[in-house]
Amino acid sequence: MTVGIPIRRLWPEPSALPLDDAALTVLYGRADQPRLRVNFVASLDGAVTVDGYSAGLSGEPDKRVFGLLRMLCDALVVAAGTLRHEDYRAVRLDERRRAWRRDNGLAEYPTLVVVSGALDLDPAQAAFADAPVRPVVLTHAGVDPPPGLTDVADVLRCGTDRVDLAAGLDELRRRGLSQLLCEGGPHLFGALTAANLVDELCLTVSPLLAGPGPARIIAGDATPPRQLPLRHVLAADDGVLMLRHARE
Ligand SMILES: NC(=O)c1ccc[n+]([C@@H]2O[C@H](COP(=O)([O-])OP(=O)(O)OC[C@H]3O[C@@H](n4cnc5c(N)ncnc54)[C@H](OP(=O)(O)O)[C@@H]3O)[C@@H](O)[C@H]2O)c1
Repeated sequence: MTVGIPIRRLWPEPSALPLDDAALTVLYGRADQPRLRVNFVASLDGAVTVDGYSAGLSGEPDKRVFGLLRMLCDALVVAAGTLRHEDYRAVRLDERRRAWRRDNGLAEYPTLVVVSGALDLDPAQAAFADAPVRPVVLTHAGVDPPPGLTDVADVLRCGTDRVDLAAGLDELRRRGLSQLLCEGGPHLFGALTAANLVDELCLTVSPLLAGPGPARIIAGDATPPRQLPLRHVLAADDGVLMLRHARE
């Protein structure tokens, strides 16, 4: 079934026919081995926000793939900054996507994993309070959780005074969360890139010039440039490009 604005493959093999959800599921897929996939939307001139939020960059085709990537993952990893700023809700999927997960032997919902150094988190935020699966907060040993946080989330400590992301991802994988989808934000993407933990970047390029001011999709300390080969290019009829770059 194809809904909404048609999405077609441009590369490597162009497809004249719009891609339905089944075809998109095959294109994005789940990997046989553990994988950290990062998903962002940016403007043509590289902005990560318009008027301070990602919503101004995202249209129906991006939202469709965004939801599909959530369907495909075991855990959704997000930085505390993005969770707070974008006021994350509980991670919910529609019945069709939950059915796909059940049919494929997955938990009905992915687990939300929040990465935070300061633990300045509100347990009443819907992402925690309304979560269908108990979220995990990935932090370090040098900070105490605010009141109520351990009532609504598992607090996982990796690192003594800063989050050891590699150890954290290993622990998630030990818990059976092998296919990780990171929705940012830029500082977390920067730290994951610095630690060479990113296997894949799915990038939606929105056909607008946001102008100077907004940040890029990556922030933080300098990292050496890393190659990430192109795997596919999709185009939606509203002019949006969807790139998938991956190590393998
Ligand atoms: N266009 C898009 O696709 C997209 C996607 C996501 C976000 N965004 C935008 O990006 C902006 C938010 O970016 P941001 O600069 O706040 O970056 P961020 O990476 O979302 O958040 C930074 C915060 O997250 C936690 N964090 C990140 N990396 C960490 C690490 N390695 N170890 C421990 N904690 C870590 C820290 O929280 P604590 O303070 O709790 O320690 C840090 O202060 C918003 O404007 C949002 O709209 C856009």
